[in-house]
Amino acid sequence: MTPLFQPPHAPPLTGEESFVEATWKFLRNPVEGFGPLAYRQPIVSAKTMGRTLHTITDPEGMTDILVRHADKFTKTAIDARILGPATKEGLLSVHGEQWKRQRRSVAPIFRKRHMADLAPLITAVIEDFTARLDVRPRLDLSTAMAELTFDVLAKALLGDPQGLDRDRLKTATRAVVTGAGTLRPDDLLPWPRWVPRPMTPRGSTALKRLKRAADDLIAERTDHPADDLVGLLIDAENLNRRERRDNLIGFFIAGHETTALTLTWSLYLLGRHRPTLERVRSEVRQVCGDGPVGYDDLDDLAFTRAVIDETMRLYPPAPILNREPQAEVEVLGRTLAPGDAVLLNNYVMHRTERLWDDPLLFDPDRFMRNPSLRGKGAPYMPFGAGPRICVGAAFAIMEAVMVLATLARDYDIIVADDVYPRPLMTVTLRPEGGVPARLERVA
Ligand code: HEM
Repeated sequence: MTPLFQPPHAPPLTGEESFVEATWKFLRNPVEGFGPLAYRQPIVSAKTMGRTLHTITDPEGMTDILVRHADKFTKTAIDARILGPATKEGLLSVHGEQWKRQRRSVAPIFRKRHMADLAPLITAVIEDFTARLDVRPRLDLSTAMAELTFDVLAKALLGDPQGLDRDRLKTATRAVVTGAGTLRPDDLLPWPRWVPRPMTPRGSTALKRLKRAADDLIAERTDHPADDLVGLLIDAENLNRRERRDNLIGFFIAGHETTALTLTWSLYLLGRHRPTLERVRSEVRQVCGDGPVGYDDLDDLAFTRAVIDETMRLYPPAPILNREPQAEVEVLGRTLAPGDAVLLNNYVMHRTERLWDDPLLFDPDRFMRNPSLRGKGAPYMPFGAGPRICVGAAFAIMEAVMVLATLARDYDIIVADDVYPRPLMTVTLRPEGGVPARLERVA
Protein backbone atom coordinates (compact mmCIF):
# COMPACT_ATOMS: atom_id res chain seq x y z
CA MET A 1 0.00 0.00 0.00
CA THR A 2 1.29 3.49 -0.84
CA PRO A 3 2.23 5.42 2.30
CA LEU A 4 0.05 8.40 3.11
CA PHE A 5 1.38 11.95 3.38
CA GLN A 6 1.74 13.68 6.72
CA PRO A 7 2.21 17.43 6.32
CA PRO A 8 4.46 18.95 8.98
CA HIS A 9 2.44 19.94 12.02
CA ALA A 10 2.80 23.29 13.78
CA PRO A 11 3.68 22.13 17.28
CA PRO A 12 1.09 22.87 19.96
CA LEU A 13 2.20 24.28 23.31
CA THR A 14 3.99 21.75 25.52
CA GLY A 15 2.31 22.94 28.69
CA GLU A 16 5.74 23.92 30.11
CA GLU A 17 5.66 27.52 28.81
CA SER A 18 5.35 30.50 31.13
CA PHE A 19 2.10 32.52 30.93
CA VAL A 20 3.90 35.25 28.96
CA GLU A 21 5.40 32.79 26.46
CA ALA A 22 2.08 31.00 25.95
CA THR A 23 0.20 34.29 25.49
CA TRP A 24 2.79 35.56 23.02
CA LYS A 25 2.57 32.36 20.98
CA PHE A 26 -1.24 32.59 20.97
CA LEU A 27 -1.19 36.23 19.89
CA ARG A 28 1.27 35.51 17.06
CA ASN A 29 -0.57 32.49 15.69
CA PRO A 30 -3.68 31.45 17.65
CA VAL A 31 -3.76 27.87 16.28
CA GLU A 32 -0.34 27.25 17.87
CA GLY A 33 -1.42 28.72 21.19
CA PHE A 34 -3.18 25.64 22.63
CA GLY A 35 -1.54 23.04 24.84
CA PRO A 36 -1.96 19.32 25.51
CA LEU A 37 -5.06 19.86 27.66
CA ALA A 38 -7.04 21.29 24.73
CA TYR A 39 -6.13 18.17 22.71
CA ARG A 40 -6.94 15.80 25.61
CA GLN A 41 -10.09 17.36 27.10
CA PRO A 42 -13.37 18.42 25.44
CA ILE A 43 -13.41 21.72 27.34
CA VAL A 44 -10.66 23.76 28.96
CA SER A 45 -11.53 26.83 31.05
CA ALA A 46 -8.98 29.39 32.15
CA LYS A 47 -9.04 32.85 33.64
CA THR A 48 -7.15 35.22 31.38
CA MET A 49 -7.06 39.02 31.11
CA GLY A 50 -9.83 39.30 33.68
CA ARG A 51 -12.36 36.98 32.04
CA THR A 52 -13.01 33.24 31.83
CA LEU A 53 -12.13 31.75 28.48
CA HIS A 54 -13.60 28.35 27.55
CA THR A 55 -12.00 26.42 24.71
CA ILE A 56 -14.27 23.74 23.25
CA THR A 57 -12.78 20.98 21.09
CA ASP A 58 -15.62 18.49 21.09
CA PRO A 59 -18.67 17.93 18.83
CA GLU A 60 -21.06 17.57 21.77
CA GLY A 61 -19.99 20.91 23.27
CA MET A 62 -20.02 22.65 19.88
CA THR A 63 -23.51 21.29 19.21
CA ASP A 64 -24.68 22.58 22.60
CA ILE A 65 -23.47 26.07 21.75
CA LEU A 66 -24.16 26.32 18.01
CA VAL A 67 -27.38 24.30 17.83
CA ARG A 68 -29.18 23.47 21.09
CA HIS A 69 -28.57 26.79 22.86
CA ALA A 70 -27.80 28.93 19.81
CA ASP A 71 -30.22 31.63 20.98
CA LYS A 72 -28.24 32.12 24.20
CA PHE A 73 -25.00 33.05 22.41
CA THR A 74 -23.86 35.95 20.24
CA LYS A 75 -20.73 36.39 18.21
CA THR A 76 -18.05 38.33 20.07
CA ALA A 77 -16.60 41.82 20.14
CA ILE A 78 -13.62 40.42 18.16
CA ASP A 79 -15.88 39.50 15.23
CA ALA A 80 -17.62 42.85 15.44
CA ARG A 81 -14.27 44.64 15.55
CA ILE A 82 -12.91 42.89 12.46
CA LEU A 83 -16.05 42.53 10.33
CA GLY A 84 -18.02 45.54 11.55
CA PRO A 85 -16.38 48.25 9.47
CA ALA A 86 -17.05 46.32 6.23
CA THR A 87 -20.32 44.56 6.87
CA LYS A 88 -21.95 45.85 10.05
CA GLU A 89 -25.53 45.40 8.84
CA GLY A 90 -24.97 42.12 6.98
CA LEU A 91 -25.83 38.56 7.94
CA LEU A 92 -22.29 37.88 9.16
CA SER A 93 -22.54 40.49 11.90
CA VAL A 94 -26.14 40.99 13.02
CA HIS A 95 -28.00 39.22 15.83
CA GLY A 96 -31.45 38.44 17.17
CA GLU A 97 -34.53 39.43 15.20
CA GLN A 98 -32.50 41.33 12.59
CA TRP A 99 -30.44 38.18 11.91
CA LYS A 100 -33.58 35.97 11.69
CA ARG A 101 -35.24 38.32 9.21
CA GLN A 102 -32.11 38.56 7.06
CA ARG A 103 -31.37 34.85 7.12
CA ARG A 104 -34.91 34.15 5.89
CA SER A 105 -34.36 36.57 3.01
CA VAL A 106 -30.81 35.55 2.11
CA ALA A 107 -30.88 31.73 2.47
CA PRO A 108 -33.12 31.16 -0.60
CA ILE A 109 -30.49 32.87 -2.78
CA PHE A 110 -28.15 29.92 -2.15
CA ARG A 111 -30.76 27.18 -2.61
CA LYS A 112 -29.88 24.12 -4.64
CA ARG A 113 -32.02 25.09 -7.61
CA HIS A 114 -29.90 28.21 -8.18
CA MET A 115 -26.65 26.22 -7.98
CA ALA A 116 -27.26 24.35 -11.23
CA ASP A 117 -27.67 27.72 -13.04
CA LEU A 118 -24.39 28.99 -11.59
CA ALA A 119 -22.26 25.98 -12.57
CA PRO A 120 -21.76 27.09 -16.25
CA LEU A 121 -20.54 30.50 -15.01
CA ILE A 122 -17.93 28.75 -12.86
CA THR A 123 -16.88 26.64 -15.86
CA ALA A 124 -16.33 29.82 -17.91
CA VAL A 125 -14.10 31.33 -15.19
CA ILE A 126 -12.10 28.09 -14.92
CA GLU A 127 -11.55 28.12 -18.69
CA ASP A 128 -10.22 31.70 -18.59
CA PHE A 129 -7.97 30.74 -15.70
CA THR A 130 -6.49 27.69 -17.44
CA ALA A 131 -5.91 29.68 -20.66
CA ARG A 132 -3.74 32.08 -18.61
CA LEU A 133 -2.09 29.17 -16.82
CA ASP A 134 -0.96 27.63 -20.10
CA VAL A 135 1.01 30.80 -20.79
CA ARG A 136 2.32 31.30 -17.24
CA PRO A 137 2.53 27.98 -15.38
CA ARG A 138 4.50 29.37 -12.42
CA LEU A 139 2.35 30.89 -9.70
CA ASP A 140 1.75 31.33 -6.04
CA LEU A 141 -1.20 29.06 -5.36
CA SER A 142 -2.68 31.35 -2.67
CA THR A 143 -2.68 34.41 -4.91
CA ALA A 144 -3.89 32.50 -7.96
CA MET A 145 -6.74 30.80 -6.08
CA ALA A 146 -7.80 34.10 -4.49
CA GLU A 147 -8.01 35.64 -7.98
CA LEU A 148 -9.89 32.66 -9.35
CA THR A 149 -12.48 32.54 -6.54
CA PHE A 150 -12.91 36.31 -6.74
CA ASP A 151 -13.66 35.98 -10.45
CA VAL A 152 -16.13 33.16 -9.76
CA LEU A 153 -17.99 35.27 -7.18
CA ALA A 154 -17.92 38.33 -9.43
CA LYS A 155 -19.44 36.34 -12.27
CA ALA A 156 -21.95 34.45 -10.12
CA LEU A 157 -22.96 37.40 -7.99
CA LEU A 158 -22.62 40.26 -10.38
CA GLY A 159 -23.00 38.77 -13.82
CA ASP A 160 -21.35 41.16 -16.25
CA PRO A 161 -22.78 44.54 -15.36
CA GLN A 162 -22.04 47.34 -17.74
CA GLY A 163 -19.55 49.83 -16.48
CA LEU A 164 -18.30 47.67 -13.62
CA ASP A 165 -14.59 48.16 -13.12
CA ARG A 166 -13.93 44.59 -12.03
CA ASP A 167 -10.22 45.11 -11.44
CA ARG A 168 -10.91 48.05 -9.14
CA LEU A 169 -13.45 46.02 -7.23
CA LYS A 170 -11.02 43.13 -7.00
CA THR A 171 -8.18 45.32 -5.71
CA ALA A 172 -10.47 46.94 -3.13
CA THR A 173 -11.88 43.59 -1.94
CA ARG A 174 -8.41 42.01 -1.68
CA ALA A 175 -7.15 45.03 0.27
CA VAL A 176 -10.10 44.84 2.66
CA VAL A 177 -9.75 41.06 3.15
CA THR A 178 -5.98 41.00 3.56
CA GLY A 179 -5.72 44.26 5.51
CA ALA A 180 -8.84 45.13 7.45
CA GLY A 181 -9.98 41.49 7.62
CA THR A 182 -6.75 40.21 9.14
CA LEU A 183 -6.54 39.42 12.84
CA ARG A 184 -3.93 41.44 14.71
CA PRO A 185 -2.60 40.74 18.20
CA ASP A 186 -4.30 43.91 19.51
CA ASP A 187 -7.70 42.52 18.39
CA LEU A 188 -7.45 39.86 21.09
CA LEU A 189 -7.28 42.43 23.88
CA PRO A 190 -10.59 43.08 25.70
CA TRP A 191 -11.53 46.42 24.05
CA PRO A 192 -14.99 47.81 24.80
CA ARG A 193 -17.20 47.63 21.69
CA TRP A 194 -17.22 51.43 21.27
CA VAL A 195 -13.42 51.68 20.75
CA PRO A 196 -12.86 51.93 16.97
CA ARG A 197 -10.33 49.66 15.30
CA PRO A 198 -7.46 51.71 13.85
CA MET A 199 -7.06 51.17 10.11
CA THR A 200 -4.25 52.00 7.74
CA PRO A 201 -5.04 54.79 5.23
CA ARG A 202 -4.85 52.12 2.49
CA GLY A 203 -7.35 49.91 4.31
CA SER A 204 -9.85 52.69 4.86
CA THR A 205 -9.57 53.93 1.24
CA ALA A 206 -10.14 50.36 0.02
CA LEU A 207 -13.17 50.03 2.25
CA LYS A 208 -14.69 53.30 1.01
CA ARG A 209 -14.14 52.17 -2.60
CA LEU A 210 -15.71 48.81 -1.94
CA LYS A 211 -18.80 50.36 -0.36
CA ARG A 212 -19.16 52.84 -3.22
CA ALA A 213 -18.78 50.06 -5.81
CA ALA A 214 -21.41 47.94 -4.02
CA ASP A 215 -23.83 50.89 -3.82
CA ASP A 216 -23.34 51.73 -7.52
CA LEU A 217 -23.84 48.15 -8.50
CA ILE A 218 -27.06 47.75 -6.55
CA ALA A 219 -28.37 51.02 -8.02
CA GLU A 220 -27.45 49.92 -11.55
CA ARG A 221 -29.03 46.53 -11.02
CA THR A 222 -32.20 48.01 -9.59
CA ASP A 223 -32.60 50.00 -12.83
CA HIS A 224 -31.60 47.05 -15.07
CA PRO A 225 -32.79 43.87 -13.33
CA ALA A 226 -30.92 40.61 -14.03
CA ASP A 227 -31.21 37.04 -13.00
CA ASP A 228 -27.99 36.63 -11.00
CA LEU A 229 -27.32 36.57 -7.26
CA VAL A 230 -27.37 40.37 -6.96
CA GLY A 231 -30.72 40.30 -8.73
CA LEU A 232 -31.92 37.80 -6.15
CA LEU A 233 -30.50 39.94 -3.34
CA ILE A 234 -32.33 43.00 -4.67
CA ASP A 235 -35.54 41.01 -4.96
CA ALA A 236 -35.09 39.53 -1.48
CA GLU A 237 -37.88 40.74 0.73
CA ASN A 238 -37.39 42.72 3.90
CA LEU A 239 -33.87 44.05 3.34
CA ASN A 240 -33.15 47.76 3.46
CA ARG A 241 -30.56 49.55 1.29
CA ARG A 242 -27.72 49.24 3.80
CA GLU A 243 -28.45 45.61 4.55
CA ARG A 244 -28.35 44.79 0.82
CA ARG A 245 -25.01 46.52 0.43
CA ASP A 246 -23.48 44.97 3.55
CA ASN A 247 -24.65 41.52 2.51
CA LEU A 248 -23.16 41.91 -0.93
CA ILE A 249 -19.83 42.91 0.62
CA GLY A 250 -20.21 40.12 3.21
CA PHE A 251 -20.56 37.49 0.46
CA PHE A 252 -17.31 38.66 -1.10
CA ILE A 253 -15.49 38.75 2.24
CA ALA A 254 -16.84 35.43 3.55
CA GLY A 255 -16.92 33.66 0.22
CA HIS A 256 -13.76 34.21 -1.74
CA GLU A 257 -10.86 33.86 0.69
CA THR A 258 -12.31 30.77 2.44
CA THR A 259 -12.87 28.87 -0.80
CA ALA A 260 -9.51 30.06 -2.15
CA LEU A 261 -7.74 28.66 0.91
CA THR A 262 -9.54 25.32 0.60
CA LEU A 263 -8.26 25.09 -2.97
CA THR A 264 -4.76 26.31 -2.13
CA TRP A 265 -4.28 23.74 0.64
CA SER A 266 -5.82 20.93 -1.41
CA LEU A 267 -3.59 21.64 -4.43
CA TYR A 268 -0.59 21.75 -2.10
CA LEU A 269 -1.56 18.36 -0.61
CA LEU A 270 -2.09 16.83 -4.06
CA GLY A 271 1.23 18.30 -5.21
CA ARG A 272 2.90 16.63 -2.25
CA HIS A 273 1.20 13.26 -2.70
CA ARG A 274 1.19 12.07 -6.30
CA PRO A 275 -0.83 8.86 -5.74
CA THR A 276 -3.76 10.94 -4.46
CA LEU A 277 -3.42 13.36 -7.39
CA GLU A 278 -3.53 10.40 -9.79
CA ARG A 279 -6.56 8.93 -8.08
CA VAL A 280 -8.46 12.21 -8.41
CA ARG A 281 -7.35 12.45 -12.04
CA SER A 282 -8.57 9.00 -12.90
CA GLU A 283 -11.91 9.61 -11.16
CA VAL A 284 -12.46 12.83 -13.11
CA ARG A 285 -11.51 11.17 -16.43
CA GLN A 286 -13.94 8.39 -15.74
CA VAL A 287 -16.81 10.71 -14.77
CA CYS A 288 -16.30 13.67 -17.12
CA GLY A 289 -14.01 12.39 -19.89
CA ASP A 290 -12.16 15.38 -21.38
CA GLY A 291 -15.12 17.73 -21.14
CA PRO A 292 -15.96 20.41 -18.59
CA VAL A 293 -16.86 19.33 -15.07
CA GLY A 294 -20.60 19.96 -14.89
CA TYR A 295 -23.16 20.28 -12.12
CA ASP A 296 -24.54 16.79 -12.85
CA ASP A 297 -21.09 15.24 -12.36
CA LEU A 298 -20.66 16.48 -8.82
CA ASP A 299 -22.32 13.56 -7.03
CA ASP A 300 -20.12 11.09 -8.90
CA LEU A 301 -16.88 12.86 -8.00
CA ALA A 302 -16.88 11.25 -4.56
CA PHE A 303 -13.13 10.98 -4.08
CA THR A 304 -12.49 14.56 -5.28
CA ARG A 305 -15.07 15.71 -2.74
CA ALA A 306 -13.35 13.59 -0.07
CA VAL A 307 -10.07 15.41 -0.84
CA ILE A 308 -11.82 18.75 -0.30
CA ASP A 309 -13.26 17.53 3.01
CA GLU A 310 -9.98 16.08 4.23
CA THR A 311 -8.26 19.35 3.32
CA MET A 312 -10.77 21.35 5.38
CA ARG A 313 -10.27 18.91 8.25
CA LEU A 314 -6.52 19.56 8.35
CA TYR A 315 -6.77 23.22 7.38
CA PRO A 316 -10.21 24.56 8.34
CA PRO A 317 -10.47 27.96 6.60
CA ALA A 318 -12.33 29.28 9.68
CA PRO A 319 -10.20 27.57 12.35
CA ILE A 320 -11.71 29.13 15.48
CA LEU A 321 -15.24 30.51 15.94
CA ASN A 322 -16.08 32.85 18.81
CA ARG A 323 -19.16 33.17 20.97
CA GLU A 324 -20.29 35.00 24.12
CA PRO A 325 -23.04 33.58 26.38
CA GLN A 326 -25.91 35.98 27.04
CA ALA A 327 -27.29 33.82 29.86
CA GLU A 328 -25.99 31.01 32.07
CA VAL A 329 -25.71 27.74 30.10
CA GLU A 330 -24.48 24.28 31.11
CA VAL A 331 -22.04 22.90 28.55
CA LEU A 332 -20.06 19.69 29.09
CA GLY A 333 -20.67 19.92 32.82
CA ARG A 334 -19.46 23.54 33.16
CA THR A 335 -21.49 26.69 33.64
CA LEU A 336 -20.80 29.29 30.97
CA ALA A 337 -21.87 32.74 32.15
CA PRO A 338 -22.36 36.21 30.62
CA GLY A 339 -18.98 37.94 30.48
CA ASP A 340 -17.16 34.68 29.58
CA ALA A 341 -15.65 34.12 26.14
CA VAL A 342 -15.95 30.87 24.20
CA LEU A 343 -13.57 29.64 21.52
CA LEU A 344 -14.99 26.88 19.31
CA ASN A 345 -11.73 25.41 18.18
CA ASN A 346 -12.21 23.51 14.91
CA TYR A 347 -8.47 23.33 14.31
CA VAL A 348 -7.79 21.32 17.49
CA MET A 349 -11.04 19.30 17.22
CA HIS A 350 -10.06 18.23 13.71
CA ARG A 351 -6.57 17.16 14.83
CA THR A 352 -7.00 15.47 18.17
CA GLU A 353 -6.28 11.76 18.72
CA ARG A 354 -9.25 11.76 21.09
CA LEU A 355 -11.57 11.87 18.05
CA TRP A 356 -9.53 10.73 15.03
CA ASP A 357 -7.21 7.85 14.09
CA ASP A 358 -3.83 9.18 12.92
CA PRO A 359 -5.23 12.72 12.84
CA LEU A 360 -2.13 14.27 11.27
CA LEU A 361 -2.21 12.06 8.16
CA PHE A 362 -3.75 13.38 4.94
CA ASP A 363 -6.18 10.51 4.31
CA PRO A 364 -9.22 11.44 2.15
CA ASP A 365 -10.45 7.84 2.45
CA ARG A 366 -11.71 8.66 5.95
CA PHE A 367 -14.62 10.40 4.24
CA MET A 368 -15.10 7.53 1.74
CA ARG A 369 -15.19 4.96 4.55
CA ASN A 370 -17.42 7.09 6.73
CA PRO A 371 -19.52 9.71 4.88
CA SER A 372 -21.43 10.41 8.10
CA LEU A 373 -18.38 12.44 9.17
CA ARG A 374 -20.09 15.23 7.21
CA GLY A 375 -23.27 14.84 9.22
CA LYS A 376 -24.68 16.35 12.37
CA GLY A 377 -22.73 15.78 15.59
CA ALA A 378 -19.53 14.60 13.85
CA PRO A 379 -16.19 16.06 15.00
CA TYR A 380 -15.92 17.95 11.69
CA MET A 381 -17.54 21.38 11.35
CA PRO A 382 -15.68 23.52 8.79
CA PHE A 383 -18.90 25.42 7.99
CA GLY A 384 -20.03 25.75 11.62
CA ALA A 385 -23.38 24.26 12.67
CA GLY A 386 -26.92 25.15 13.66
CA PRO A 387 -28.91 28.16 12.54
CA ARG A 388 -25.80 30.21 11.71
CA ILE A 389 -24.16 27.50 9.64
CA CYS A 390 -22.47 28.92 6.53
CA VAL A 391 -25.17 30.08 4.15
CA GLY A 392 -22.83 29.68 1.15
CA ALA A 393 -21.61 26.12 1.93
CA ALA A 394 -23.28 24.43 -1.07
CA PHE A 395 -21.90 27.08 -3.41
CA ALA A 396 -18.40 26.75 -1.91
CA ILE A 397 -18.37 22.95 -2.22
CA MET A 398 -19.64 23.08 -5.80
CA GLU A 399 -16.97 25.59 -6.77
CA ALA A 400 -14.14 23.80 -4.93
CA VAL A 401 -14.96 20.40 -6.48
CA MET A 402 -15.28 21.88 -9.99
CA VAL A 403 -11.97 23.73 -9.78
CA LEU A 404 -10.01 20.93 -8.11
CA ALA A 405 -11.37 18.28 -10.49
CA THR A 406 -10.43 20.32 -13.57
CA LEU A 407 -6.95 21.26 -12.37
CA ALA A 408 -6.10 17.76 -11.08
CA ARG A 409 -7.22 16.13 -14.35
CA ASP A 410 -5.45 18.55 -16.66
CA TYR A 411 -2.33 19.63 -14.74
CA ASP A 412 0.61 18.24 -12.84
CA ILE A 413 1.05 20.17 -9.62
CA ILE A 414 4.71 20.70 -8.87
CA VAL A 415 5.45 22.22 -5.48
CA ALA A 416 9.14 22.93 -4.77
CA ASP A 417 10.87 20.36 -2.55
CA ASP A 418 11.37 22.69 0.39
CA VAL A 419 7.84 24.17 0.48
CA TYR A 420 5.88 22.98 3.54
CA PRO A 421 3.92 26.08 4.57
CA ARG A 422 2.98 26.63 8.16
CA PRO A 423 -0.73 27.28 8.77
CA LEU A 424 -1.03 30.80 10.12
CA MET A 425 -4.32 32.02 11.53
CA THR A 426 -5.23 35.54 10.44
CA VAL A 427 -9.00 35.08 10.97
CA THR A 428 -8.74 32.53 8.15
CA LEU A 429 -5.99 29.88 8.00
CA ARG A 430 -3.43 30.94 5.42
CA PRO A 431 -0.22 29.20 4.32
CA GLU A 432 2.57 31.39 5.68
CA GLY A 433 4.71 32.66 2.80
CA GLY A 434 2.28 31.31 0.17
CA VAL A 435 2.75 28.17 -1.94
CA PRO A 436 4.99 28.72 -4.96
CA ALA A 437 4.22 26.04 -7.54
CA ARG A 438 4.20 25.13 -11.24
CA LEU A 439 1.09 23.77 -12.90
CA GLU A 440 2.03 21.94 -16.12
CA ARG A 441 -0.57 20.70 -18.54
CA VAL A 442 -0.63 16.92 -18.72
CA ALA A 443 0.42 15.75 -22.17
C1 HEM B 1 -14.86 26.79 1.94
C2 HEM B 1 -15.55 27.91 2.00
C3 HEM B 1 -16.24 28.44 3.23
C4 HEM B 1 -16.05 28.14 4.55
C5 HEM B 1 -15.06 27.16 5.16
C6 HEM B 1 -16.99 28.95 5.31
C7 HEM B 1 -17.11 28.90 6.69
C8 HEM B 1 -18.10 29.55 7.40
C9 HEM B 1 -18.36 29.38 8.81
C10 HEM B 1 -17.55 28.49 9.75
C11 HEM B 1 -19.42 30.16 9.13
C12 HEM B 1 -20.09 30.27 10.51
C13 HEM B 1 -19.41 31.30 11.36
C14 HEM B 1 -19.93 31.31 12.79
O1 HEM B 1 -20.88 30.60 13.11
O2 HEM B 1 -19.35 32.07 13.59
C15 HEM B 1 -19.83 30.86 7.93
C16 HEM B 1 -20.87 31.77 7.87
C17 HEM B 1 -21.19 32.47 6.73
N1 HEM B 1 -20.68 32.28 5.45
FE1 HEM B 1 -19.30 30.92 4.93
N2 HEM B 1 -17.72 29.72 4.44
C18 HEM B 1 -17.31 29.44 3.16
C19 HEM B 1 -17.83 29.97 1.98
C20 HEM B 1 -18.81 30.91 1.90
C21 HEM B 1 -19.37 31.46 0.68
C22 HEM B 1 -18.98 31.03 -0.73
C23 HEM B 1 -20.28 32.44 1.04
C24 HEM B 1 -21.14 33.33 0.18
C25 HEM B 1 -20.92 33.62 -1.06
C26 HEM B 1 -20.30 32.46 2.50
C27 HEM B 1 -21.09 33.32 3.25
C28 HEM B 1 -21.28 33.19 4.62
C29 HEM B 1 -22.21 34.02 5.38
C30 HEM B 1 -23.06 35.16 4.82
C31 HEM B 1 -22.16 33.56 6.70
C32 HEM B 1 -22.97 34.08 7.88
C33 HEM B 1 -24.20 33.22 8.07
C34 HEM B 1 -25.05 33.61 9.28
O3 HEM B 1 -24.52 34.11 10.28
O4 HEM B 1 -26.26 33.37 9.21
N3 HEM B 1 -19.41 31.53 2.98
N4 HEM B 1 -19.03 30.46 6.88
